[in-house]
Amino acid sequence: MAPKIIVLLSILLLNCQLIFGQTLWCDYLISHSSGYTCQLTIINPDGLNNFTHINGTHMANMTNEDVASITVSSMNSGSNSPNIPSIICEIFPNTTSSTLTRLGVKRIHDYSYKSCKHLTHIHVNHNNITEVDENAFIENTELQFLELWFNELPTLPENVFRNQQKLIRLRLDFNRITDLPDNIFVPLRNLTFWGMESNLIKDLKIKWFENFERLETLWLFYNRIEELSTNVFHPLINLKSLGLSFNMLSNLTTEMFEQFMNLEDLWLDINELEDLPLNFFNSMTNLKELDLGTNKLSNLRAEWFKPLSNLEYLGLYENEISELSAEIFTPLQNLEFLTLEVNDIEDLPSNIFSSLINIEVIRLNANNLKIIHSDSFGVLPNFAYFTASNNQIDAFDEKLIDNSRISGIDMMNNICANFGVFDYSDSRQLIRNGLQKCFENYENLNPGCVGGNWDERVCLIEDKNQAQQEKIEHLQAAVEELQKLVQELIDRPCRS
Ligand SMILES: *[C@@H]1O[C@H](CO)[C@@H](O)[C@H](O)[C@H]1NC(C)=O
Ligand SMILES: *[C@@H]1O[C@H](CO)[C@@H](O)[C@H](O)[C@H]1NC(C)=O
Ligand SMILES: *[C@@H]1O[C@H](CO)[C@@H](O)[C@H](O)[C@H]1NC(C)=O
Ligand SMILES: *[C@@H]1O[C@H](CO)[C@@H](O)[C@H](O)[C@H]1NC(C)=O
Ligand SMILES: *[C@@H]1O[C@H](CO)[C@@H](O)[C@H](O)[C@H]1NC(C)=O
Ligand SMILES: *[C@@H]1O[C@H](CO)[C@@H](O)[C@H](O)[C@H]1NC(C)=O
Ligand SMILES: *[C@@H]1O[C@H](CO)[C@@H](O)[C@H](O)[C@H]1NC(C)=O
Repeated sequence: MAPKIIVLLSILLLNCQLIFGQTLWCDYLISHSSGYTCQLTIINPDGLNNFTHINGTHMANMTNEDVASITVSSMNSGSNSPNIPSIICEIFPNTTSSTLTRLGVKRIHDYSYKSCKHLTHIHVNHNNITEVDENAFIENTELQFLELWFNELPTLPENVFRNQQKLIRLRLDFNRITDLPDNIFVPLRNLTFWGMESNLIKDLKIKWFENFERLETLWLFYNRIEELSTNVFHPLINLKSLGLSFNMLSNLTTEMFEQFMNLEDLWLDINELEDLPLNFFNSMTNLKELDLGTNKLSNLRAEWFKPLSNLEYLGLYENEISELSAEIFTPLQNLEFLTLEVNDIEDLPSNIFSSLINIEVIRLNANNLKIIHSDSFGVLPNFAYFTASNNQIDAFDEKLIDNSRISGIDMMNNICANFGVFDYSDSRQLIRNGLQKCFENYENLNPGCVGGNWDERVCLIEDKNQAQQEKIEHLQAAVEELQKLVQELIDRPCRS
């Protein structure tokens, strides 16, 4: 038979199976990353577990025992099965990696992975799992990676991880977990990554964290956490990344966070924080990223930033900040990215940013700035992007362009400019052209407005314009006076 006809026939055959009852089928291939692989097609809408064989033809000299990895065929979007039939692991006992995603799996049974004693990776994310049996992983003592994210789990049984001493990474994100049993994580002494993002957790139990001394990443974004007990995080001495964004935290104490010597990323944005204790960050001397955006902070405390000389990213956007005290950012010598968007800042004190010798990006969109003084920034050799759209800026010191390498700027919706340019190779000249009016206005500012200390600097350009207007009127009056005088002289009869 011509190859085309064979292909056609096998497609027809496959389709017959798809239509008439249950199908388990492997396409075998060798993958660079996973070795000898069964690409599974499974049509099992009734969740049967009485399969007697898996169809498919092995590659030359290969047997079932050589199968190292099972994945769902990306070719076959028709695969679906509410269970994971036991035959898969019975037939491929040496499998180390099982990836059964987007199959509509609803339950992981005791039998599902029982015969795969060598599994190190289970990925069963993007299914509809509401239930995991207590003994589902009991034989998987080699398991290192378990991914159950994007399912519909409300909880898990207490003993489900009792043989997972080698587990390194656990992802339970994007489920509907409201609570988990006290002792569920006790065996997981080697866990370094726990993803718990987007669940419905209100309370973090002290017991969960007791053995998490090796934990490096804890993602609790998008939950319902309102309060933390003082010592809940205390065992986490190796934590590097803590995600608490999008919760309802309002009252954090130093004691809760005092063991975070190794913490590098702390995400506290989208909470209800109005203030933090002065020594809150004292233990966190290794912090690199700190996000405090979308909270209710109004008073930035100088003490907060003193221990943070390693910080590279600071997010303070969408708060209620109206004043910046002059020295506040001085300790942040390694800061590269600062965002202060959507606050009520009216003025940038002299030298407020000038210690930030590594800064690359400053974002100040949607504040109430009126004048951009270069002495707020000093000389910043890496400063490349400045955004200040939606302010009331009417004057801009051109020296800021000279003293930096700004190549991207957003000055949309300001008084002297409605202009932005982002990283064209020749953008510096474009920027100079686009901000010409702002530069001219700055040149014409009252001398007293430039270089004063910050509370004296609110310097309205209208005043200057008015002064000029008055001068002109004065001059005009003088000219009129003179003209009158001349006229009088002309009109006066000559003495002959
Ligand atoms: C499995 O069970 C179903 C339903 O009981 C039945 O229709 C089917 O023939 C069985 N398959 C095998 C291979 O025994
Ligand atoms: C699947 O395998 C069984 C037993 O080896 C065989 O009877 C059946 O024809 C096969 N189905 C297909 C579609 O190859
Ligand atoms: C299969 O194994 C036999 C015997 O070990 C060997 O002679 C043959 O070359 C192998 N074939 C392939 C394709 O590896
Ligand atoms: C699994 O693989 C090993 C070698 O890697 C082999 O000795 C063994 O027979 C295979 N089968 C089972 C069931 O472990
Ligand atoms: C299963 O989950 C997917 C998303 O992962 C969803 O689109 C689908 O509607 C769910 N099916 C059922 C039967 O709940
Ligand atoms: C835990 O991790 C360490 C370091 O990676 C390793 O030496 C140890 O064998 C692991 N323990 C278990 C039970 O896997
Ligand atoms: C914040 O927590 C501390 C310690 O738990 C408590 O003393 C204080 O009253 C709380 N403050 C508010 C505003 O809830």
